[in-house]
Amino acid sequence: MVEPQQNVPTILCIFGATGDLARVKVVPALFHLHRKGQLPDMFRVIGFSRRPWGDAEFRTHVREIISMHASGVDTATIDSFLERFGFQSGDFDEDKSYMELKRTFDRLDAKWGVCANKLFYLAVAPEFYTKIATQLKNSHLSDPCGPYEGWTRIAVEKPFGHDALSARAIDDHLAMIFNEGQIYRIDHYLAKEMLQNILTFRFANNLFESEWGNQLIEKIEIRLLEPLGVEKRGSFYDATGTLRDVGQNHFLQILALLTMDQPRSLEADEIRTKRAEILKTVKTPTTDDVKKHTFRAQYKGFRDIPGVAPQSNTETYFKVRATLSHRRWKGVPIYMEGGKRLGDAEKEIVITFKHREPCVCPEGGAHHTNRMIIRLEPKEEILIEFWSKTPGRTFKTEKRALQFLLRERSGAAQYTEEYEKMLLDCIRGDQTLFLSSEEIAQMWRYIDPIVLGWKKNLVPLDSYVPNTKDILQIAAQLETNN
Ligand code: BG6
Repeated sequence: MVEPQQNVPTILCIFGATGDLARVKVVPALFHLHRKGQLPDMFRVIGFSRRPWGDAEFRTHVREIISMHASGVDTATIDSFLERFGFQSGDFDEDKSYMELKRTFDRLDAKWGVCANKLFYLAVAPEFYTKIATQLKNSHLSDPCGPYEGWTRIAVEKPFGHDALSARAIDDHLAMIFNEGQIYRIDHYLAKEMLQNILTFRFANNLFESEWGNQLIEKIEIRLLEPLGVEKRGSFYDATGTLRDVGQNHFLQILALLTMDQPRSLEADEIRTKRAEILKTVKTPTTDDVKKHTFRAQYKGFRDIPGVAPQSNTETYFKVRATLSHRRWKGVPIYMEGGKRLGDAEKEIVITFKHREPCVCPEGGAHHTNRMIIRLEPKEEILIEFWSKTPGRTFKTEKRALQFLLRERSGAAQYTEEYEKMLLDCIRGDQTLFLSSEEIAQMWRYIDPIVLGWKKNLVPLDSYVPNTKDILQIAAQLETNN
């Protein structure tokens, strides 16, 4: 069922439509939405890219993409999905291509008898963002028809620049053409069920929230360990590294959700403001912090990947310790650790509560801390560990856990669920799951000094054997540094 506020005539124009991003993320998500009947009745996708294709070739391409998602789907559903697709061959630089695009849009508007909403999705490298945005302005494609009908919006993917300065330049440029309410900056982690659940768990319950902070919590660990390597993204990854690929965005967003103050409402603006406010309190790392509280490593064999420099010093694993100046969080270290080729997937948040003093615990027994684990992979679950008395006459204790299992993740296609939500939210105009300009600036403020310090070799680059987790033990040493 399409919700009424979503059932608005919409044209989605994908720049870079024949690239990887559209193939892996956008098209499969659209297909799932189509199958579930959640796309607007009047909805058209226009692929824009350099290939000298027409609609037919693009539809064949789309058919191939969805073939692995289409088992058990009837031909009529597939055909009606493909009919939604059209193609505009063109160069991002060329005025003529945008004029043609405008004509295509005008034809559709005339056919539907409305001024359709236009969503421009930039599935291209960030260096093209400003160029495309300028062309959209010059060709009047970015002009909305009116305040209530025929809106225009732009969706951009991470990475948002490669440092604070470049991110600001992109943002300033986009801000000359679109207002903040029209810009949708994607971080798919915000659309993950378990992460959305953090806000519900914290603010819709009265379990821990009143003490949430340094009264109750000893440390927080955010861990995203991936089994996969960098696959075909050698040159992108070599230029980016794990810290900028996932640290600058996914990790810091998780940090924000875990530590932000209570929002007054669930309004997008309010939540984005609270996220930005807490990010502002993440302390900018000093040179000393970089030396003592960051660690980096590269997996063996990374330098042999096509596109990676033979002498590359790019990290494929990192561990960093962040602290916040917010009064609630003073003294609570937040460890963020992530990387590629690290064996079985382990994506989780571990919150360790303070040891109870005095603890009425059996003498000489185990240290009685409690932990809460919010796990994204391999399962989606929340665990609360606690100590319980073993049955019988003695006062021995044993560790137990309360579990909420959302689901076993096996079989879920990467990105699809998150992109389904985000695409619908772009259409509905809900920016909760998208980053604000301020959040981006704050995230780079934290990351830049670390990247710089590593460039200066303040921290040696360690290495690890792919598919092993030994490096985690070595990195753990930074927890002992003050
Ligand atoms: C992307 C990174 O943003 O997130 C990838 O560019 C990473 O390198 C991916 O693999 C992880 O996402 P997920 O949803 O599989 O945890």
